[in-house]
Amino acid sequence: QRLASAFYYRKSSPSHSLHSTSDNDLQHALTAEDALAEEGGGAERVEKQHAKGKLTARERLHLLLDVGTFCEWDRLVVSRDHVHDAPGARRDIAGTPGDGVVTGHGRIHGRPVFVYSQDFTVAGGSLSETHAEKICKVLDRAIESRAPLIGINDSGGARIQEGVLSLGGYAEVFKRNVLASGYIPQISVIMGPCAGGAVYSPALTDFIFMVRRQSNMFLTGPEVIRAALGESVTSEQLGGADTHTRRSGVAHVACDDDVDALQRVRELLSYLPSWWMGDAPRLPTDDPPEREDAVLDRLVPADPNEAYDMREVIERVVDGEEHFEIQPDWAPNVITTFARIDGRAVAIVANQPRHVAGCLDMDASVKAARFVRFADAFRLPIVTLVDVPGFLPGTQQEHHGIIRHGAKLLYAYTEASSPKLTVVTRKAYGGAYCVMSSKHIRGDLNSAWPSAEIAVMGARGAVGVLHRGDSADELQAHEAEYARRYLNPLTALRRGFVDCLLQPRRTRAWLAQGLELLQRKGVDSSREPMLPKKHGNIPL
Ligand code: HXC
Repeated sequence: QRLASAFYYRKSSPSHSLHSTSDNDLQHALTAEDALAEEGGGAERVEKQHAKGKLTARERLHLLLDVGTFCEWDRLVVSRDHVHDAPGARRDIAGTPGDGVVTGHGRIHGRPVFVYSQDFTVAGGSLSETHAEKICKVLDRAIESRAPLIGINDSGGARIQEGVLSLGGYAEVFKRNVLASGYIPQISVIMGPCAGGAVYSPALTDFIFMVRRQSNMFLTGPEVIRAALGESVTSEQLGGADTHTRRSGVAHVACDDDVDALQRVRELLSYLPSWWMGDAPRLPTDDPPEREDAVLDRLVPADPNEAYDMREVIERVVDGEEHFEIQPDWAPNVITTFARIDGRAVAIVANQPRHVAGCLDMDASVKAARFVRFADAFRLPIVTLVDVPGFLPGTQQEHHGIIRHGAKLLYAYTEASSPKLTVVTRKAYGGAYCVMSSKHIRGDLNSAWPSAEIAVMGARGAVGVLHRGDSADELQAHEAEYARRYLNPLTALRRGFVDCLLQPRRTRAWLAQGLELLQRKGVDSSREPMLPKKHGNIPL
């Protein structure tokens, strides 16, 4: 009350405002207000947050950003109901300065980023009208400044007491997520609850990180599900990190704890440009671009039905074996990962023969399609490693729309005008040959290992169609003949559908050279012309 009256005295009595005592009182008032912002929901709630293994909103930003670079905005912003309160005065929790979210900007690896971090200790990090305005402000500035936006979510959702004002606030955030999509990278880190429509802001962003056994994402929680459907499910089962990174494909990276998640976000950013016209940082490497790897020459087994690990191919080809995998545990039959070759960031899509023989199913198609679209939006070169026997057959796939989902991948690859480099390591059968960045859909540089089998289908399937009714011995002979004639890269090479036969050990050198050749593609006048239209209609 003393601080409050000092503040109002200064405002209403200019003659006294020059008096040093009032100035001191104002300083005290501001300091007190600042302290309230700093302590958020107070020591007890912070302790509760720590007891759950969670860091506070500010501690998280401290770990996320380069040391000493965080510049906070709107630290003293309060919800509309509290805007006339005396500074420093104790109020209900919803009147805490900062209004449950810490926002501002800083640097990651020296590059500017914008951030918000919801403070669960203040009204459960719930989103009020002003809380939303703070997020919108950093989103607007991120777009203007052409810098990535990272949002740390730890919130009970719409602030119940503010009703439709908070719903409107969410919609304002959603709108900006959409406008920023493809312009700047947007990353969401889910570090606590994220329920109701609140999940849609993260879902509109490019990548979602979750923390195991700590964060949840769902539209309706376990209680509502129990009441409405009689189903019993825990929050973790319903919308935990494992659920969303293994079953639903909603999230992209599952992390062990807050520290792990924030370090991984920093790592991911090292592969990305700050905005769509910027270049991803080229990092110096000790790994020579010409490095050959003899193991690659014998990696593909002689038996075409035997699996091998495509991840090993990736690791033997990229700089220092390092890469950052997106959705490693969902649809593992296709690998989507960021890496660097000769210091240049690339997006790698690779069939994984170790899972369902590398077939493309619905989830794999959607996973790869979204990854290709991200890479293309941000002009990252797309490297495709092909070993795919086709789309996964079966009623389950057909009835759930493999045609529609597979078309997404076809559309994404065809639409993509980023540099596209393709290596066929083994099978490239049927529609999957066309889809996986073939020359026909604007692949720039296409090569094939001697083990490549570029054909309509495998021997057994082909012979079954062409020689139905023949004896077992005859079928075997037909299969051998079919394999000899068709299961190789020869026709594709003779027609120029692949540019060259590539000795596996030379793959890294071929990619490094290709990336250098194509480095200006998509920049200024070399951009491929598109038909004038509002936008295409990707089969969603
Ligand atoms: C206001 C909220 C709040 C909310 C939590 N709190 N959620 N205040 N609005 N939505 C407050 C609590 O009152 C409490 O205040 C503090 O945050 C911590 O909450 P607890 O319940 O004690 O914590 P915990 O046990 O960890 O449970 C967390 C929780 C639970 C699972 C998030 O609070 C919860 O179920 N909240 C409601 C979730 C929800 O249904 N939200 C609306 C979703 S719909 P004190 O003062 O005690 O610290 C939605 C629509 C968005 O978001 C639409 C967009 C289009």
